[in-house]
Amino acid sequence: MAERRQSIHGEWSSRVAFILAATGSAVGLGNIWKFPYITGQYGGGAFVLVYLACIAVIGIPIMMAEVLIGRRGRQSPVNTMRTLAEEEGRNALWQYLGWAGVLSGFLILSFYSVVAGWAMAYVPRLASGMFNGASPDKVGTIFSDLISDPERLLAWHTLFMGLTMIVVSRGVRSGLEQAVRVLMPTLFLLLLVLVGYSLSTADFAGGVRFLFAPDFSKLSWEGVLVAMGHAFFTLSLGMGAIMVYGSYLPRHASIAKTTIIIAGADTLVALLAGLAIFPLVFSHGLAPAAGPGLIFQTLPIAFGQMWGGAFFGFLFFILLSFAAWTSAISLIEPIVAWLVENRGLTRIKATVLAGGITWTLGLGSLLSLNLWQDFKIIKWGILDFVDILTTNVMLPLGGLAIAVFAGWIMSRESTRDELAIRNPLLYGLWRFFVRYITPVAVVVVFLNAIGVIHIGKG
Ligand code: PHE
Repeated sequence: MAERRQSIHGEWSSRVAFILAATGSAVGLGNIWKFPYITGQYGGGAFVLVYLACIAVIGIPIMMAEVLIGRRGRQSPVNTMRTLAEEEGRNALWQYLGWAGVLSGFLILSFYSVVAGWAMAYVPRLASGMFNGASPDKVGTIFSDLISDPERLLAWHTLFMGLTMIVVSRGVRSGLEQAVRVLMPTLFLLLLVLVGYSLSTADFAGGVRFLFAPDFSKLSWEGVLVAMGHAFFTLSLGMGAIMVYGSYLPRHASIAKTTIIIAGADTLVALLAGLAIFPLVFSHGLAPAAGPGLIFQTLPIAFGQMWGGAFFGFLFFILLSFAAWTSAISLIEPIVAWLVENRGLTRIKATVLAGGITWTLGLGSLLSLNLWQDFKIIKWGILDFVDILTTNVMLPLGGLAIAVFAGWIMSRESTRDELAIRNPLLYGLWRFFVRYITPVAVVVVFLNAIGVIHIGKG
């Protein structure tokens, strides 16, 4: 067996630190911004059920695979894939999977930063009390005023990328661990407060029904693809973020347990966000399918009406910005780690380079909301196009390749040694999933969804 490698980038201080960091990566805009709005667009309960099934059947096995690959390789995903493939006597072309992940990371962060900018822009807006008692119409106008102003968006996008680069340049351990320790639990509590408020709204039951009562007639294969893509997105899978975090994981930590904790926390946050938002949507006669502006057009109504709303709202958007921040860091870490390993750059230089590229790419998404509104790729603006391409195509394909790598390319001995699951049944179950169930599920969803897009329902 190969001698244990050390990561040149350092290690998490403990298993808990890894759980916090990986949860920080997983919990972000995906849970609070994206999950509610796609659930609204794809019809509610049935979509949620498929999403939950994807987390269990596809997300958890692939997350275990990513962490184990990362910890075994102990390098950036590009180098880890190459080293492990060579070690197993396979083709070094597997490193291109690492590169695909790097590309996904750039693309995702480019639009992620723009949306995180919306969240940050809401912090002063809530604090100023401008939403106090505001009608749904007024709340909607405040949102559209924001996204139609390229200069404001640019300022927030730049600030967000700057903050991300500060943490990344200092190394994952110093800044990140501390931040996540406090912020994640606070965000969770605040979501509970919001759910508490939504309990008092006129149509709480309607919101719950929408989220949890499945109506399969509303579900299309396209919806299934979106649910699957979202399972990858929300768990940060398919592009190497969790892999690179896994490469800093201490040797003794159990991968199976940590994975289940991370996926569980992530799912809980998404469901709480849904519970906070949909009762408001229905109580105020808003459209659940409003799209990407959904939380920005609904939550401020609640904050405008509840006791202490300006304060809670202010806090909420700060925490949302932090959640986005801890995710953004993991999107850029794979490339920064590679630049340090292979190009001998200092972390600071590597971060400036990677951050600069992402910032520039982000301008396309930013302008697609206003000045370039009429420019479409197929039928989407740049922001939507990049989001759909990465979430629904690149991440699932990356995840598929990761499952194939862990199930078919790595030997049973390597994966068993790394996972160290004592119960042979459980290990066998995981291996069965990554070899058969997970890849087949991804392929089946894909083929069907492509069919749907062909017959023009897309
Ligand atoms: N999981 C993050 C979220 O839900 C987004 C993300 C995707 C982060 C892929 C890293 C990698 O907001």
